[in-house]
Amino acid sequence: MPRIAYVNGSYLPYDSASVHVEDRGFQFADGVYEVVACINGVLADERGHLDRLERSLAELSIAMPVPRRTLQFLMRETLRRNRFRNAGVYIQITRGQAQRDFPFPADDTPPTLVIIARAAKFGVKEKMEKGTRAITVPDIRWKRPDIKSVALLPQVLAKQKAVESGAYEAWMVDDEGFITEGASSNAWIVTKKGVLVTRQCGSHILRGVTRTALQRLSAEMQIRIEERPFTPQEAYEAEEAFNTSAVALVIPVVMIDGKAVGTGKPGPVAKRLYEEYRAYVDGFRGDQAEWTA
Ligand code: PDD
Repeated sequence: MPRIAYVNGSYLPYDSASVHVEDRGFQFADGVYEVVACINGVLADERGHLDRLERSLAELSIAMPVPRRTLQFLMRETLRRNRFRNAGVYIQITRGQAQRDFPFPADDTPPTLVIIARAAKFGVKEKMEKGTRAITVPDIRWKRPDIKSVALLPQVLAKQKAVESGAYEAWMVDDEGFITEGASSNAWIVTKKGVLVTRQCGSHILRGVTRTALQRLSAEMQIRIEERPFTPQEAYEAEEAFNTSAVALVIPVVMIDGKAVGTGKPGPVAKRLYEEYRAYVDGFRGDQAEWTA
């Protein structure tokens, strides 16, 4: 359980930390968020996540509530006050508090900034050794999922359906029948020829920071990547499948819509990528890579 949350300039007891009823995040889902993993005390790909956060805010004309350096300090301080070394750090920024009205509030309305840290376990043995299940669902999101908006209702419904089907993740399928991404992760397959396939970036998916890191690592490992659309059928027939995200890192998917992928067990490519990603995070010292590949 977190003990302390940061809300608009104060560190508050988690149980009573709150925002105003007129917060635009609550009223309109008018806000964005980021999730950064803290692994053994290191904020993984922090720079990439902050780059993406600034981009999401800029796309919605929401101001950064504090300078980037301050935000970096606040994230660390929230972790420190909770005494977490392995955690997910959740940054939520909304357009602030104003009497309910659709257009933007007055320019001097300060954005709301909330930081929550939650203890996390990375590379959970059972999930890594047994793999996880996914189902496919229609992608009913708005047309800008490249913005990490807090408007997550389609993902909430998708994940709930996954849970009810005994699955861990939902892979969303667009109107043309191609997989876009997971409800809270990027979706990948490995073809019989050992090629990694994941949907190209654009406005249909969120450009994952973990995804970008894996692109670089795969190039170093001389694994070929094709960024292109793929169908559920291609995924069923793939050699391997996996998801990537800041909290899941690289997580094997062994069954999609009840069909075993490859051997039905986690495969060597996902395992190697997971290990390389962990080694890459362990090697972080100061400077970190950019978000875009
Ligand atoms: N989700 N696609 C979607 C829709 C996501 O929500 C996420 C992350 C990703 C992966 O991005 P990254 O590698 O930068 O975490 C892709 C976070 C973890 C969440 O919503 O909790």
